[in-house]
Amino acid sequence: MHKSFFIKIALILPFIGLSQNLIINTTNRNTTTLNGTWHYIVDPYQTGYYNYRHQPYDQLPENNNAAFYNNYHAKNKMELVEYNFDTSPTLLVPGDWNSQKEKLFYYEGTIWYKKSFDYNLPNKKRLFLYFGAINYKAEVYLNGKKLGTHIGGFTPFNFEITSIVKPVGNYLVVKVDNTRHKDAVPTTNTDWWNYGGITRDVKLIEEPLTFIQDYNIQLKKNDKNSINGYVKLNKGSKSEKVIISIPELKIEKQLTTDKDGKVKFEIKSKKIKYWNPKNPKLYDVSIKTDYQTLKDQIGFRTIETKESNILLNGKSIFLRGISIHEENPMRGSRAYSTDDALVALNWAKELGCNYVRLAHYPHNEHMLKLADKIGMMVWEEIPVYWTIDFNNKNTLQNAENQLSEAITRDKNRASIIIWSMANETPPSKARNNFIKNLINLTKSIDSTRLISAALEKHNSNGVNIVDDEIGKYLDIVAFNQYTGWYGGSLEDAPNAKWNIKFNKPVVISEFGGGALQGLHGTAKERWTEEYQEYLYQQNIKMIEKIPNIRGMSPWILADFRSPKRVLPGIQDGWNRKGLISNGGVKKKAFFTLKDFYKKIKKQYN
Ligand code: GCU
Repeated sequence: MHKSFFIKIALILPFIGLSQNLIINTTNRNTTTLNGTWHYIVDPYQTGYYNYRHQPYDQLPENNNAAFYNNYHAKNKMELVEYNFDTSPTLLVPGDWNSQKEKLFYYEGTIWYKKSFDYNLPNKKRLFLYFGAINYKAEVYLNGKKLGTHIGGFTPFNFEITSIVKPVGNYLVVKVDNTRHKDAVPTTNTDWWNYGGITRDVKLIEEPLTFIQDYNIQLKKNDKNSINGYVKLNKGSKSEKVIISIPELKIEKQLTTDKDGKVKFEIKSKKIKYWNPKNPKLYDVSIKTDYQTLKDQIGFRTIETKESNILLNGKSIFLRGISIHEENPMRGSRAYSTDDALVALNWAKELGCNYVRLAHYPHNEHMLKLADKIGMMVWEEIPVYWTIDFNNKNTLQNAENQLSEAITRDKNRASIIIWSMANETPPSKARNNFIKNLINLTKSIDSTRLISAALEKHNSNGVNIVDDEIGKYLDIVAFNQYTGWYGGSLEDAPNAKWNIKFNKPVVISEFGGGALQGLHGTAKERWTEEYQEYLYQQNIKMIEKIPNIRGMSPWILADFRSPKRVLPGIQDGWNRKGLISNGGVKKKAFFTLKDFYKKIKKQYN
C-alpha cells in the first residue's frame, strides 16, 4: 500500500466514525463524573509526544516511558524520568486554562491533563469515556493505550474503554492542543478568545451489552399529528424489542429492530400540546429495551417557512433575539454549566427575547436543555467563520464532522429551530460548494428544521444589497449589518434603501456597536452609552422597514473577551458591543431593545 495512502488515512482518521458512535442524552444515563481537579503539564515543545527526532511516540514500535501518556514514575533514585503529573499543579475540569492561571491567559499550544480513577465494572456491562468538548485537538490515552483523537472545540465525543479499564489505578491522560491552524475550523482569525482546555463535562457511562445509543423523536416535517424518528441500539442485533412511551399522550409503541439494531417509527396523535416560547411544553418520554430504560423530556413543534413568513406551529412569528457567546462575562471565562446558561438566558428573557443566536459554535448541552425548558428558540451554528480554507478537503471533512456531532447531540431539542452553516464567509465557487455540502449533510440527518447562514450585504449607489448566491439554498436569508459602526450614517439609517434578492424570511443576524459601560457623552461620541443607544434607535427604525423582516439577533448580549480588541481604557481585550458589561451592568441600549421587543410582541401575538 503506497505511503501516501497511510498519510491520507492519518489525516482524516480523527474525523471518521466519531459522530456515528456518539452516545446521546448522557445526563439521563448511569454515569460517574470525572469533573474536578486534574493535574496538568504545560508542553509548548510537545516533548511528551515527540522524541528528539520529532517522531510521535505513539506511532513508534517500541513503547517509551518518556511519553507523557505513560504517566511513568521513577522506580528508584537512579532512574531518569523528567515529568511527574502527581507533583504537577492542577486545573479545574470543566474549564478553560486561560482564566484559571494568569501565566496561561494568552497560552496557545499543548497542555497535558491527567486524572486517576478507580472503577469496578460489573460483568455484562460496558464502559464509555465521554467528553462534552475539548478545545481544539484532543489525543486521549487510558492506562498508556491510545483511545483516539478528536478535532473540534465545541462538540462531544466518546470512546469505549470496557477492555482497558481496571478496578484500581486507572490513569487517563489527555493531550490538549488549541494551536490555531489555517486549515482548521475555525481558522486562525476569530473575534473571540481561543480558550483552551477540557472545557465541558467529562464522565464515565456504564451501559448494558446492548444499549440505546442514539434516537430521534420529533414531529414529522409538516405533519403536526405525526411523531416519527428512529431508535439505534449499540451492538444491537435483529429483533430486539423497543418500547417508546409517552404516558401523557397515552402512547406505548412496541417496535422491533432490524439486523443493525435500528428501528424507524411513526406514531399518530391528535392530543399533542405544541411547544412554543409562551408554553414550552415538554413530554416525559421513555425508551425501554430488555436491558434498560432511558428517559428524556421532549417538546413537539413544527417550524417551517412560507414565502416571507416563519411559521411556528403554523403561526407567523417574529424572532425577538440576541446573539450570545459561550462565556460567563463576570468570570471572564468559557461558560460550561446550567448556572452559566441561566445567567445568559435570564438576561435574554428580561430583554423580552423569544429567540437566541448561539454564536459561532455549538454551545454546551446545558444551554439547549435550558432553552427547551424556559421556552427560547435557538439558532445553532458551527464555526465556519470568515476565511475558512474552502478548497481543503480535510477542512470540509472537519466541518462536516462538527456539524454531524452537533446535530446528533441536539436533534431532539424542540428549542432549536435553525441550523446555521457559516458566518460572514466570502462568496466564491469553492465557498459555495463547501456550504452546499454542509446543507446537504444537514438535510440528510435532520430535514425538520430550517437552514441558514449569516451572510453579508454590500452597497451599490447608496442601496444596501443582499444577493449572495448561497441565499438560494437557505430557508431564511440572514445577514450581518453594522450601519453606524463599520460604515453608513446613523442619521440616514431610517431611510436606507434595501434590495434583497430573495423572497424569503429575512433575519438580521447581527447589528450593533461598542460602548464602555459607564462612559457617557453625546450620541455622536463613540464608545459612550449614548452613542450605542442612538445606534440601536436608528437601526431599529431602519430594520422595521426592511422587506420580509421576521427577526433579529443584535450583536451581542454581553461584552466578551477578544484578543483582537486592544484599545486601552476602552476595550482592553474585550469586545464592547454587549448590551451588558462584563461586570453584569446593563447599558442604556439594553432598554432601547427591550422597549422595541415589547412593541413587536404586541404585533405578533
Ligand atoms: C462580526 C462577527 C462577530 C464579531 C462582530 C464584531 O460580524 O460575526 O464575530 O464579533 O462582527 O465586529 O464585533
